Amino acid sequence: MINSTESAFNSKIAVITGGSRGIGFNIAKALVERGVKVVLGDILDKEGNAAAKELNDQYDRQVAIYQHTDVTKYSDLKVLFSMAVEVFGGVDIAIMNAGITGPLAGGVFTPLDDEADMRIQEINLGGVIKGDKVALLHMAKQNRGGVIINTGSMSGLTSLSILGQYTASKHGIVGWTRCLANMKEVCNVRVNAVCPCVCDTDLNNNLDSKESFDFLEATPKTKMEHIVKAMLQCIEDPTLAGDLLLALPDGVHFQPSLALPDTEEMSEFLKKLPHVQEQANNRYKKILAEAIKNAGI
Ligand SMILES: NC(=O)c1ccc[n+]([C@@H]2O[C@H](COP(=O)([O-])OP(=O)(O)OC[C@H]3O[C@@H](n4cnc5c(N)ncnc54)[C@H](O)[C@@H]3O)[C@@H](O)[C@H]2O)c1
Repeated sequence: MINSTESAFNSKIAVITGGSRGIGFNIAKALVERGVKVVLGDILDKEGNAAAKELNDQYDRQVAIYQHTDVTKYSDLKVLFSMAVEVFGGVDIAIMNAGITGPLAGGVFTPLDDEADMRIQEINLGGVIKGDKVALLHMAKQNRGGVIINTGSMSGLTSLSILGQYTASKHGIVGWTRCLANMKEVCNVRVNAVCPCVCDTDLNNNLDSKESFDFLEATPKTKMEHIVKAMLQCIEDPTLAGDLLLALPDGVHFQPSLALPDTEEMSEFLKKLPHVQEQANNRYKKILAEAIKNAGI
């Protein structure tokens, strides 16, 4: 008899953005260890090719490929997912993980520059939204279900003034992920987010202010193994949909969603919400086939 862990991982295919190093490469290693084939997408080609080679050499067969992918571009994301279909036969797991901090992560009294200001939002939030949309169409077309994991952050649930732009992008991921809870009903795809506390990766090497470094120094660190464990839990636990798992220094925590206060004025509105949701689901089911066709997927 196949146990649930085997069926959640064995012979599955995963696409991972930001997969060349850090959290992305660590979850890739953990998945391959469990029988999953991985497609790594990133803009760091040297590191990405080396990461795929390391896995293929270790297992002495093709378990990984690397594809140059800028997550701000639909054209790149479409090629990335097509590679998974062409080389390995589909996509069951998508981990939308690419992200940056950098000089504009704080971003209040920086120059009023349209492009530079939105760059972090385009990568951190836009890359997740675009990646999820492409992943959902592929998974819906295959009609065999799927799991999407968005990499959020603890800062998506708190307010960190020294990292205002970064924090805003991660709050966006939390809101977007919660809104996709209904994809389980619409197309049998569970979308969740993992929100790690600070972890020792290259991400944190390019902050530009002393305050940011001091903050990082002072923050308790989470271990990579907790982040990987949270991602594996998202894949294995069939009850998680539109949910958040925090990867904190002491391990993985479930983060319940905020319930609106059920006051007299709000109560009628709250009663209507399930009906509104049902209508949205029915509409999504109707337009899905057309969306797959229009996207050329
Ligand atoms: N390390 C932490 O403390 C921490 C904490 C919370 C959340 N996170 C999140 O975890 C994710 C992974 O970060 P990490 O810590 O492994 O850092 P990392 O810098 O090692 O990895 C991020 C990866 O994203 C890639 N990337 C950046 N821009 C890209 C683009 N436009 N297209 C494709 N790939 C791009 C980078 O090249 C890199 O390989 C990020 O979303 C980050 O915000 C990290």
